This record gives sequence, C-alpha cells and structure tokens, in this order.
Amino acid sequence: MGERKSSPRKRIAVIAGDGIGKEVIPEALKVLRAAAAKGGRELALTEFDWGADRYLRDGTTLPADAPDMFRRDYDAILLGALGDPRVPGNQHGAAILLGLRFKLDLYVNARPCVLFDRRLTPLKDRTEKEIDFVVLRENTEGLYVGMGGFFKKGTADEIATQEDINTRKGVERIIRYAFEYARSLGLERVCMSDKANALAFGHDLWQRVFAEVRGEYPGIQARHLYVDNLVMQMVRDPSQFQVIVTCNLFGDIASDLGAQLAGGLGLAPSGNIHPGQVSMFEPVHGSAPDIVGKDMANPMGAALAASMMCAYLAWPAEAQTTAAAARAASREGKPTGELGGPLGTREAGDWLAGRVAST
Ligand SMILES: NC(=O)c1ccc[n+]([C@@H]2O[C@H](COP(=O)([O-])OP(=O)(O)OC[C@H]3O[C@@H](n4cnc5c(N)ncnc54)[C@H](O)[C@@H]3O)[C@@H](O)[C@H]2O)c1
Repeated sequence: MGERKSSPRKRIAVIAGDGIGKEVIPEALKVLRAAAAKGGRELALTEFDWGADRYLRDGTTLPADAPDMFRRDYDAILLGALGDPRVPGNQHGAAILLGLRFKLDLYVNARPCVLFDRRLTPLKDRTEKEIDFVVLRENTEGLYVGMGGFFKKGTADEIATQEDINTRKGVERIIRYAFEYARSLGLERVCMSDKANALAFGHDLWQRVFAEVRGEYPGIQARHLYVDNLVMQMVRDPSQFQVIVTCNLFGDIASDLGAQLAGGLGLAPSGNIHPGQVSMFEPVHGSAPDIVGKDMANPMGAALAASMMCAYLAWPAEAQTTAAAARAASREGKPTGELGGPLGTREAGDWLAGRVAST
C-alpha cells in the first residue's frame, strides 16, 4: 500500500545497529540479494555504522542532515536493532530510531501477524488461516512524543507528567490508511481500538474521526473495541481480525502480542511507512544481548522486513518469494533454535537465500 515507485534501481540504506541486528541484517541481505538477482533487479546498498560502538567512540547518533539525505538519496532503509548494555539509557537507540520515525514522518507502523505453521502458535488448535492480520500502529504521536516533565524530582513530593498527543491530522491519516490498506488487499474488516471510556479527550477524537472516515468505505466492516477487550479477543479468537488500527502505545503492545500468536519475535517484521516517501523496515525484535555472538538469532524477522520493503518498492515478485521462503522454512522444520529448529543464524540465512534462488 502506498508503494514508492521510482527508478528500477533501488537505493537502500542499511543500518544494522547493535547486538543481533549485526547478525540478522547480513542474512536478510543475502536473501534480498538472491531475490533481486532472480528478478534481474538492481540494488544499491549503502551501510551506515550507527549504533552503540560509534556512539561510544565519537558520540554520533542520528546526524542532523540524515533525514534530508534519506529523503533525497534513498528509496528505503533497512534497520536491524538498537540497544546495548553499555548504553543503559539507550539514548543512541532512541535518537536514531525515534529520530527517523519522527523526522521522516513515518506515521504508519505496520506489523503483520501471520502464522506460517500451526505448530508455532501458543494458542491451542489454531490454524494458519485463523491468524492472519496486521496491526497498524500510529507511529508519530501519542505518548511517545517525549512531552512531559518532572516537578520536585527525587523528593517524596515528586510529580512526573507524560503528555498524550493526538492531532486531528495524525489520527485521520492512520485511520484512513487502515481503510485504504484493507481496500487495496480486498480485505473486509477494520477494527479501531482505543480507550475512549477512560481517555475522554484524546480518544474521543479517535472515535469521532473513525465514525467520519468509516462512512467513506461502505464495503468494509468497521468495528470498534476498547483496547482491554481487543487484547482479550486477540487471544480468544484471532480469526476475527484482518486490520487493527490503534494509537502508538496500544499498537506497541498489541503488535507484540500478535507477534507471539504468530510464532514469536524472531519471525516478526515491521514497516515504518510514509506512503510515497522513503520508509524504513525492521524486524520487531531488539538487539537481544542475551544471545548475541552465539549464532542463535533468527534472521526471519529481518528477512520478512526485507520482503515488506520489496513490496513497498513495488517489487511484488521479490516480496512474495522471500515471504514464501520463510513460510517454507517454518513448515519444513528449518527455523532457528528458539522455534525448535536445527539451524544457526547463518545457516538459516543460507537456507532462505538458497530457497529464494531455487524457486
Ligand atoms: N527496534 C529496536 O531497535 C528495539 C526493539 C526492542 C528492544 N530494543 C532494545 O534491545 C535491547 C534488548 O531488549 P529486550 O531484551 O527487551 O528485547 P529483545 O527483542 O532484544 O529480546 C527479547 C527476547 O527475545 C529473544 N529474541 C529477540 N529476537 C530474537 C531473534 N531474532 N531470534 C531469537 N530470539 C530472539 C531474546 O533473546 C530475548 O530473550 C534493549 O536495549 C532494548 O531497548 C530495540
């Protein structure tokens, strides 16, 4: 949805980042290169060494000219993960990741939750066709804008505030994107989730905008659930959902629940999208310091993020073959150890790239 069409040669910025980001991104690139070669496509990859090592060396986070450079010179960004125990506050990670989301105005965070093999879901007796939905999280507003402050910090009378920002423009564009996304894929159901019964101002705006926009899409079933009910229903019967749209905080939480329903973080991809503009794709997981250097990280989330990126770049065949390889790996028992499979990170990457090349 909202694909970026430009020259047949795609210019990709690669930020592997920290921890297992540096392990899974090379594997995702193997798969991406195999898909591009198969389709006779041209890729221009440029790697950026932003992450904890660079930050600790010279203080670099997101250079001031980076957003303009990405807008001007790149079609998409592929990111690994940011986070390192040597930077306990994760200042560099927040500056790079949130900086790119906010400064490139990547207002859609799309997180598909698709079960490839029924053995991978923790839900009893659920099949592949019952877990196949996307969470569309508002990505530039809400509680994540960093507005707030402390009063009398460190005292017994301390007050901490955190502002929840909801703008008419921001709410409308993510809700409209959800309906357009559903329409473009021939889907029938959009569910908007908020907490308007308790957040009587910000989420009242979500309610009013949803009521207005849904009227423009009479062919699509539009439903509303309060977020506490949403997460309960996702576990009780995930087949109810095709497209879920919600605010930044609730989308963060609901999409991790969705990832787990579909087999876990190692398999979950995401896209940070501004339709028609340079956008950023990344696995949902973090830098996983507990398994770094052990050849245990599953590269499938990163490979599937590359697949989402191909779809966004209007390379549908490459997107499809990459996703099909991940699906085949899950079905043929070839995932990494956390899913009970026999492969290490590099072997899994080789398997996926080989599968792409041979189909
Ligand atoms: N988008 C991002 O860059 C991002 C997202 C989440 C967390 N983080 C950062 O990552 C660091 C670690 O955070 P965390 O431990 O809460 O989350 P995490 O996602 O890194 O790890 C959570 C658990 O899942 C496992 N795991 C994650 N990805 C895996 C994979 N591909 N294969 C196999 N197992 C996998 C880890 O081993 C760990 O046990 C922190 O610094 C955090 O701030 C970054």
